[in-house]
Amino acid sequence: MKPVKILIIAGARPNFMKIAPIMHAMRRSPKLEPILVHTGQHYDVKMSDTFFDELNIPRPDISLEVGSDTHARQVAKIMERFEPVCDEQKPQAILVVGDVNSTMACSIVAAKKEIKIIHVEAGIRSRDRSMPEEINRMVTDAITDILMPPSRDAVDNLLAEGHAPEKIHLVGNIMIDTLLASKDLINKSEILKTLSLQAGNFVSLTLHRPSNVDNMDNFRKILAALEVIQQELPIVFPIHPRTRKMISEFGLEDYVASMKNLILTDPLGYFDFGKLISASRFVLTDSGGIQEETTVYGIPCITLRENTERPVTVWEGTNELAGCDTETIIALARQILDGNWKKGRIPELWDGAATGRIIRILEEVL
Ligand code: UD1
Repeated sequence: MKPVKILIIAGARPNFMKIAPIMHAMRRSPKLEPILVHTGQHYDVKMSDTFFDELNIPRPDISLEVGSDTHARQVAKIMERFEPVCDEQKPQAILVVGDVNSTMACSIVAAKKEIKIIHVEAGIRSRDRSMPEEINRMVTDAITDILMPPSRDAVDNLLAEGHAPEKIHLVGNIMIDTLLASKDLINKSEILKTLSLQAGNFVSLTLHRPSNVDNMDNFRKILAALEVIQQELPIVFPIHPRTRKMISEFGLEDYVASMKNLILTDPLGYFDFGKLISASRFVLTDSGGIQEETTVYGIPCITLRENTERPVTVWEGTNELAGCDTETIIALARQILDGNWKKGRIPELWDGAATGRIIRILEEVL
């Protein structure tokens, strides 16, 4: 029998570590034929190519090269360029991961062409519709055929939204497959030496959500907390292009530069970043995936958001929500420095074996 042709969609940085193990496993399966489509939502070497190189992801078979734009225009461009790809390739299915604009845009195109949609990381919800990713999650799941949630709360969300139980397959957390498979290379990273850091003696920070960095008041509140925390421990801040742009737009360069213990770096590669967070005293972040990774490393995480689509990291892991309130962030940081933080445990099926479960299900149902 001919293998089932599946277009694998990758667009932005948080997609790459999710599609890597799926691509590798599908290429080994005689029943599945993966074709990699890169939409080009992220295009900088440090936001894209580095991850392909480090994680040995094959070069994309098809590149849509959409680049950055407003949400509507970016989604429209992806849809416009993905439609002829579907017509030429005639896949039986597409596989999308996560919640970025590319995830939703390609899903809408496929749904209208009656091509099956597989969504890995389905069902997670922040219930915050001001987040572009929440809209992407809801729209994608509404039209997905094979839903693959990472955790039980995500299964419950999908059931509550009326999805048929037979469409839902709890596969676990695909991101953790890559993390565990990369442990040795992460350990070997020289990033601590490069930045003159001592394990356990610094804080890591990532910040890029529009609600934090596109809003001057919120951004300032977070910076005020950083100003206090960096007096106790150095803070390493691999800076996202959006955030760098907003610092300059808001004229905050001098304020940021005045914090002598706030160390800005370019975006880091996967192994260096893994080493950095796993060796941190604690992590400050507004990312989704980093809340999960810190839980697996057992490193305290303060999330600079009011809500999370990954509540299991708070219920079971090492994560707490702080929003962008200066005093709350400082109080939680003090709690960690006083040694007063939960230990956490690793959630069910975040075990490095999600890829195997995904492939088995696809070989069976497609
Ligand atoms: C996107 C995702 C977000 C994810 C994040 C990870 C959506 C809606 N958002 O947000 O879920 O957490 O990626 O990074 O899909 N830029 C560059 N080089 C690049 C990419 C972007 O310089 O390679 C700059 C551009 O100026 C762009 C800005 O960064 O305007 C923001 O990029 P964009 O892709 O719009 O959204 P992200 O904030 O990266």
